[in-house]
Amino acid sequence: MSELAVNVKNLKYKYPDESWALKDVSLEVSVGESILLLGISGVGKSTLLMNLNGLLTPTEGTVQIFGKKVVEKNLKEIRRRVGFVFQNPENQLFCPTLWDDVAFGPVNLGFPPEQVEERVEKALKLVGLTTYAEKAPHHLSFGEKRRAAIATILSMEPEILLLDEPTANLDPRSVENIIKILREISSKGKTIIIATHDVNTLPQITDRTIIMYNGKIKAKGHTKELLADYEILEKYGLKLPIIGQLFHKLESDHKLSFDTSLPITINSAEQKIMELINRNK
Ligand SMILES: Nc1ncnc2c1ncn2[C@@H]1O[C@H](COP(=O)(O)OP(=O)(O)O)[C@@H](O)[C@H]1O
Ligand SMILES: [Mg+2]
Repeated sequence: MSELAVNVKNLKYKYPDESWALKDVSLEVSVGESILLLGISGVGKSTLLMNLNGLLTPTEGTVQIFGKKVVEKNLKEIRRRVGFVFQNPENQLFCPTLWDDVAFGPVNLGFPPEQVEERVEKALKLVGLTTYAEKAPHHLSFGEKRRAAIATILSMEPEILLLDEPTANLDPRSVENIIKILREISSKGKTIIIATHDVNTLPQITDRTIIMYNGKIKAKGHTKELLADYEILEKYGLKLPIIGQLFHKLESDHKLSFDTSLPITINSAEQKIMELINRNK
């Protein structure tokens, strides 16, 4: 079996006000996988992510990262290997310049100046913000702040990247930028877990989807299959991706059948439509 990046067993998490945000979650993620952690608001996605890098520690059960348990004595190593991009980029940007913010992690990890420089340049290049290095982060647009926040994590070169709602509140161009960045990171063999309720954009870049509801994992499967499953999505308060909605409507209104797989991306829809056109020529 391939090496496990993340191994969560029977994880339960209770906030200090006694509310159970996670109720028995078990999950395995292999090295290099990209995972969509999907669910409506309040189901425990952020709480789960925070348990994966030790920002929170399990009330019951265990979390292992590359075989190392998330406990106090391993936290330093785990934080280095697992990067967390917060939903609000402003939580991640606090230095006078973008350069300083991106350098903050590697400096703290004790890298010598030339390596810090190399890492900062690499991270800024990947997110397309090289020319903004000397800018004050609070002067950046929201989309740029998101990319800047990703760069502050990339400069630490984590093996696992956790992203909380990375496309929330972004305009279409900025969403495209994020998708491109995540694709590139994923192609470098990093393990990525993306928490979101966005069924339209992020499925494109994830192999596997996990649906959460009420503090539990309710469904797991290939993104292409799970995101085309009307019943499961509806059951947990979610919707088919917009393309899938169209094909589902065609099926139910016109008694059509698109075999097993409902198209959920523009490319698969295009292919399906061309098949239909060619069949009827
Ligand atoms: N700091 C907190 N104290 C108490 N309850 C919290 C806290 N943060 C989140 N919760 C509760 O835990 C549940 C899961 O929250 P969260 O993990 O933020 O869900 P999601 O990210 O899926 O929206 C929610 O019911 C939420 O109200
Ligand atoms: Mg959340």
